[in-house]
Formats: sequence, structure tokens, C-alpha cells
Amino acid sequence: MARIIGGLGTSHVPAIGSAMAAGRQQEPYWKPFFAGYDAVRAWLGRERPDVVVIFYNDHGLNFFLDKMPTFAVGAAAEYRNADEGWGLPVQRPFKGDPDLSWHVIESLVGDEFDITTCQEMTVDHALTLPMKLMWPEGDCPVWIVPIAINTVQHPLPSPARCYKLGQAVGRAIESYRRDLKVLVVGSGGLSHQLDGARAGFINKPFDLMCLEKLQSNPEALVRYSIAELVELAGTQGVELINWIAMRGALNGRVSKVHSNYHIPISNTAAGVLLLENRALAALAV
Ligand code: DHB
Ligand code: FE
Repeated sequence: MARIIGGLGTSHVPAIGSAMAAGRQQEPYWKPFFAGYDAVRAWLGRERPDVVVIFYNDHGLNFFLDKMPTFAVGAAAEYRNADEGWGLPVQRPFKGDPDLSWHVIESLVGDEFDITTCQEMTVDHALTLPMKLMWPEGDCPVWIVPIAINTVQHPLPSPARCYKLGQAVGRAIESYRRDLKVLVVGSGGLSHQLDGARAGFINKPFDLMCLEKLQSNPEALVRYSIAELVELAGTQGVELINWIAMRGALNGRVSKVHSNYHIPISNTAAGVLLLENRALAALAV
């Protein structure tokens, strides 16, 4: 059976991609940010996941404001990246796993989540940058299942609903017959606001509280409304709902492997959080 081995939350600021392409990782501005991923790569090297299921938000590459699904699940054999206008190098296509995707879709619809299914789906920086941070060299050694959550066109799904989606995805993965090690990723955040009167808004105490609660007590975060999250984390900081969905999928004993928090990268409070998930059944043996 498939097994969820961990969860990763990470920011996805486009400038990360430009810095990697230009080899700037050791420069003073970037070093404290990239240093936060060494422990993640060491863990990936040890644990070697087969699959990444990633909760992320599309910023206008695949979906636009005219047609915006609340939740969309990829069911393609391949996911292509394309030029979004940020000047980032276009990444090579990512391998999909349609059989696992359809299993997740069947299970979610059975669980009363009325999702959109995407047999074609381009993927933007919110998917490509977490993958590049995890595997900077060459093709990623995993199949992916992308799950897009609307963080752009209001009304957005509530943190509580995203947490339940994550729990349902967790049940779907763990009922999948193939013996696969699965890493669940939540992309985006932490606090940031790119436009309007509060452009540049960052809320360090709130971010640090979220990093802690995501490990120890995620239920404390699901009580916020979207309006409260926008106020506390910024209009784009609301991407935190992708992390909340990721945490919902971790259904075993969860422990922190590593975290890093760095202000600012571009306009964003950049965070990374790696959680290990140990199945309760395995612990009982
Ligand atoms: C920035 C952050 C984002 O999450 C994003 O999608 C685009 C830009 C930024 O801080 O520049
Ligand atoms: Fe974003």
C-alpha cells in the first residue's frame, strides 16, 4: 500500500528561480534562504519518495479569472511548465501518474469533494519552484499529482475546508494498492501582500505561530476565516491554505525534521517546514 512519509511546506517566490538560474545561492541576500533547504535535500536523499502530491495555487498560467475551479486535480501523464512572464527558465515536463491521480479523484468524489479533473494542465512557479528547491539538478526522480486550490479569485475555500480536503487526500493515498512512498507538499506563503495599500506587508509573529501550530496543533489554524487570514497574512499570504491542506494529509504521528524562516525574499516572508509522518499502525507494532 502507498504510505505518506512526510509533508513539506515551502514558499514559491519567482525570484528564487531567477537566483538559481544565475547561480546566486551563496550571495549574502540569498544564502540564509537557500541554506534552509540543505536539511530538506539530505532528508530526501535518505527517504527517497516515489511520488509528490502537491497542493499549490495556479497564478494565471493554467486557469484564469474567467474559469477558476476551487479544487482541481491533475490526471495527466505529463505536466508542462511554460513562460509566465517572470523571466524564469522553462522547466522540463514533470512525470504524472494517471492511475494514482484517478484513484485520488475517485476517492475524493466518493468523499463528496466536487473537484475539477484536468487531463491536461500546465504548471506554474508554485509547482516548479518547490520541485526545483527539492531537486535542483536534472529531472525530478518522482511522479507528481498536482492539486490546485484557488487562492486568487474570491470566494476562496476556507482553511477548515482545505484541511478536510487534505485529510481526504491522505485517506485516498493510503488506500492506494501500489507500494509507494509519498511526500505531500504545500506551496506558497508565508505572509505577503504584493499590491494595494498594504503592499510589502509581513507578519512575523503570525508566521512563526503558524510554523509551530502546523506541527503541533493544526486544528488551531483551521478556525480562521479567509477574511481573517487575509488580514493576518496578506492578500497573497492566504496561500497558507495550501500548507493547511498538506498538513491535513498527514494522518500519523507527525514530528518536525526541519524549519527555516527568512525575511524578506522579494515581498515575502519565506518559510520552509519539513514534517515526518509515521503511520500509527507501524508505531503500534
Ligand atoms: C511573490 C510571491 C508569490 O507567492 C508569488 O506567487 C509571486 C511573487 C513575491 O514576493 O515576489
Ligand atoms: Fe504565489
